Amino acid sequence: MEGGARTAVLVTGGAGFIGSNLVRHILRERPRWAVINLDKLTYAGNLESLADLQDDKRHLFVRGDIADTRLVERLCLEHGIEAILNLAAESHVDRSILGPAIFVETNVAGTQALLDVARICKVKRFLQVSTDEVYGSLGPAGRFTESSPLRPSSPYSASKAAADLLVHGYRHTFGMDVVTTRCSNNYGPYQFPEKLIPLMIANALEGKPLPVYGDGMQVRDWIHVEDHCAALLAALERGRPGETYNVGSDNEWPNLHIVRKILAVLRKPESLIEHVKDRPGHDRRYAIEAGKARSELGWAPRIAFADGLERTVAWYLDNRGWWERVRTGEYRTYYEKNYGERG
Ligand code: NAD
Ligand code: DAU
Repeated sequence: MEGGARTAVLVTGGAGFIGSNLVRHILRERPRWAVINLDKLTYAGNLESLADLQDDKRHLFVRGDIADTRLVERLCLEHGIEAILNLAAESHVDRSILGPAIFVETNVAGTQALLDVARICKVKRFLQVSTDEVYGSLGPAGRFTESSPLRPSSPYSASKAAADLLVHGYRHTFGMDVVTTRCSNNYGPYQFPEKLIPLMIANALEGKPLPVYGDGMQVRDWIHVEDHCAALLAALERGRPGETYNVGSDNEWPNLHIVRKILAVLRKPESLIEHVKDRPGHDRRYAIEAGKARSELGWAPRIAFADGLERTVAWYLDNRGWWERVRTGEYRTYYEKNYGERG
């Protein structure tokens, strides 16, 4: 992949959290590229997250399913797609506990369908955007490396691990040029308010209880979405065929610390915190060793957590309409189902 004229890439899931940030990142960093953005617009996809790109001729939004091989094949041929960046997925662990089937349909069968089209259309590179959750849970010490065994523990992470194995299988069998990335927990603008950080910000702003699962001492390794997007572009351009790259920014915190920090930034009382029933099979700790991405891709995270978190809180304050609108309808039904029995 080079930054030359008329490079066209297909980003899937580009109306979601990371996808919408990635489309913007690519168009800013590679001004001569065209981005075809394929998204089914599930509950998590939102065209409002792409509103500023409406008049940008380099961006074409197409509503559709990654499993629709005829559509994807047409897009690849019509636009001369050189690379596919696969972000489309069902992405929320709690939803995978309530209803796993769609996770297999989208994350496993959808990825397999995309791989088939990439092969038939001779797409030069397939970037699979995976997650550190495929490695399972850590004890108090150690970090995940690319050679850590796959031990997924939720229907979500099992479906992502299955997709990773398919990607590897297509490389081994058909010699396809594939690269896989496995990133830790992202935060930043446009994240759907079912995930920890935006959920806590939104609930605090509405004076609602902040539901912390179990003791709240589970550890996650947070990275700003902009740093993740830079790693994805680096992996696309400089990743070695067939390789996997962990992405993370050495930033581990217990959930309770994050929740308290958000309350402090918003000047809201800690009495809003409510410990609720734990997530079934809850992974205790994630931590990413990202040395390979740093040395081979020449990538490094840039955004310090304190700064990134404050900017994220400010974004949710400034964009209240965005998250208030998505917290209606389907979201309310989900919220009742997930939190109704936890109290
Ligand atoms: P998200 O839920 O915000 O967005 C997913 C997008 O995929 C939505 O726009 C949705 O409409 C779209 N989509 C779902 N099914 C589709 C289908 N069949 N065809 C086309 N589009 C479909 O998710 P996210 O947090 O932006 O995550 C994006 C990717 O990054 C996922 O693959 C996820 O596993 C991975 N990832 C996420 C994180 C994180 O912390 N959020 C970390 C590491 C990896
Ligand atoms: O590690 C990467 C993964 O991070 C991605 O692959 C997933 O797509 C993404 O959703 C995220 O998974 P988590 O399960 O870690 O994220 P979530 O925001 O759902 O939860 C973060 C932590 O906060 C986790 O320990 C559960 C806890 N939590 C979450 C919610 C929604 C709570 O305590 N209360 C809550 O209400």
